[in-house]
Amino acid sequence: MTWWRDAVIYQVYVWSFADSNGDGIGDLPGVRSRLPYLRSLGVDAVWLNPFYPSPQADNGYDVADHRDVDPRFGTLADAEALIEDAHRLGLRVILDLVPNHTSDRHPWFRAALDTPPGSRERARYLFRDGPRSDQPPNNWISAFGGRAWSRAGGQWYLHLFAPEQPDLDWTNDEVRAEFRDILRFWFDRGADGFRVDVAHGLAKDPQMPDVDSLTTGAAPEGHPHWDLDEVHDVYREWRALADAYPGERVFVGEIWVQSPERLARYLRPDELHTAFNFTFLSATWTAEALRTAIDESLRSLRAVGAPATWVLSNHDVTRHVTRYGGGEAGVRRARAAALLMLALPGGAYVYQGEELGLPEVLDLPDEARRDPTFFRSGGTDPGRDGCRVPLPWSGESPSYGFGPGEKSWLPQPDQWAGLTVERQSDDPESMLRLYRAALRQRRLLPALGDGEMEWIPAAPGVLAFRREPGFVCMVNVGDSPAPLPVDLSVVLASSPFDGPLLPGATAVWFRS
Ligand code: GLC
Ligand code: CA
Repeated sequence: MTWWRDAVIYQVYVWSFADSNGDGIGDLPGVRSRLPYLRSLGVDAVWLNPFYPSPQADNGYDVADHRDVDPRFGTLADAEALIEDAHRLGLRVILDLVPNHTSDRHPWFRAALDTPPGSRERARYLFRDGPRSDQPPNNWISAFGGRAWSRAGGQWYLHLFAPEQPDLDWTNDEVRAEFRDILRFWFDRGADGFRVDVAHGLAKDPQMPDVDSLTTGAAPEGHPHWDLDEVHDVYREWRALADAYPGERVFVGEIWVQSPERLARYLRPDELHTAFNFTFLSATWTAEALRTAIDESLRSLRAVGAPATWVLSNHDVTRHVTRYGGGEAGVRRARAAALLMLALPGGAYVYQGEELGLPEVLDLPDEARRDPTFFRSGGTDPGRDGCRVPLPWSGESPSYGFGPGEKSWLPQPDQWAGLTVERQSDDPESMLRLYRAALRQRRLLPALGDGEMEWIPAAPGVLAFRREPGFVCMVNVGDSPAPLPVDLSVVLASSPFDGPLLPGATAVWFRS
C-alpha cells in the first residue's frame, strides 16, 4: 500500500504552532518539541507552511532563499533535526514549495533590477513594457486585490499576488532547473514531499491578452493565466524526479480550478499524486451539497486513479466551526464533519487547531492584522489572520502555552482558556478527544482509508454509506432526528445520543 493514498496529514502553520523562545512567533524548535503531540493525535504526516528566509510580506509565501530557514523560525540544522525527529516518531514531513513567484528580495529579482531590460536576469520573471508608464500591459488583477502589475527598473512586472511576489517565467530553462535543484536539495534532506503552492498558476499565455471576466474565484476555462495546459509539463518533470528517490516522495497540489474534472488532470499517473479537495471544503452544510461534492470528486478522481484528500480548513479560509454557523451549532456540525471526512475513501488534512474546535477569530484589531489581502482591499476583506491565531496549549492566560511568555504575534481570545490542549485532554467530550478517537479507529478499522464506498438509502438530510469490510457511516446533516439502522453496533459518535433516533448534526460510525 502506498502511504500517501490514505494518509492523514496535519498542517502546521509554523508562525502559529509553538514558539520556543518567547518572541511571540512560532518556530521550528517549537514544532519539534510538539511532535509527540502529533504522534499521539494519530496523524501520519505533517505539512509545514513555508519557513524559508523571507521578508514575510505574505507570511513566508514570498521566498527569498529556497534552501535555508528564516532566522525567525530557526536554522537549517533545526529543519534537518525536525525531519529526523519526525521520522523517528513515524511521521512523514511535507514541505511547502512556492514556484509561482519569489520574494522581491530574492537575489534573482534584485539582479533583474540591476540589469537593463532584455537581460538574462530579467528573463526569469515576467517583465513587460506597457503602452505607457502609467498604463500596465493588460487588465490582469492580483488575487490579493488591485492590479497584477507594478513598475520597477523602468518596466512593468507581473505579480498575481502581492507586488512583493513577482511571478517567475516558467518557459525559462533556468527557472525550471532551479526548481529541480530545490526539490533535490530537500529530498536529499529527507523531505517526504511537497505541497505545491498555486500549482494551477505557473503557465501564462505568452500573448498576455486581457482577461474577459475579472474574478478572483476559480478559473474559467480558457483563462490566460490560470490552469493552462502547459503547467502539466512541469509536473511530469517533477514526478519523474521524485520517483527516482526511494520511499515514495509525493506532491500535493494547491489547485483552485472550476471543476473536479479540471482538477483530476493534475493527478494523471505521471503528474502530481494528490490535490486538496476544495470542492468538499467549499460545500455548504447540507446533505445535498456534501453528497454532490463527494460524488463528483470521487468520480473524477477515479478516472485518473488518484485518491481523494478531504479538507475542511486551512490557513487561507475561514475556520469551519465558523463557516458552519459558529457557536455551539458550528462546533456540533464540525464534530460531525470530522467523522464524515475521516470515513470517506482517501486521505485527509487536519489544519492545526481544528482538532481543538477553534473558531475563526473575527474581532482582531486592525493594528494586529498582517495579511496583505486586508491591506490591499482597503480593509473591506478581513483577510486570513483570523484562522492564523497562535494555538492555545495550556494554562489560563495568554499565550496559553504557545510560548514561554505572554507574547503571541496575533492576540488570542480570552475564551481560548477553555480550548487548550491541556483542558481538552482531560475532557472525554472534547473535540480533541473526538479527533484522537477517530484517528485511532481509522487505524484499527480495515474498511477505512483508501478504497471504495457505497451510498445507502437514507432519510432526507441524512448521508449514509457503507465501506467494506463491515463499516457504515451515517451523518444526520439536517436538524430533525432521523431513524437509526438496527443491528449495527456504534463505534464512535460525534455527539452523545440514546434511543432509536439520530439527533441532527450528528455522525456515527458503525460496525456491522
Ligand atoms: C497560496 C497560499 C497562500 C498564499 C498564496 C500566494 O494560496 O496558500 O497563503 O498567500 O498562495 O503564495
Ligand atoms: Ca519564536
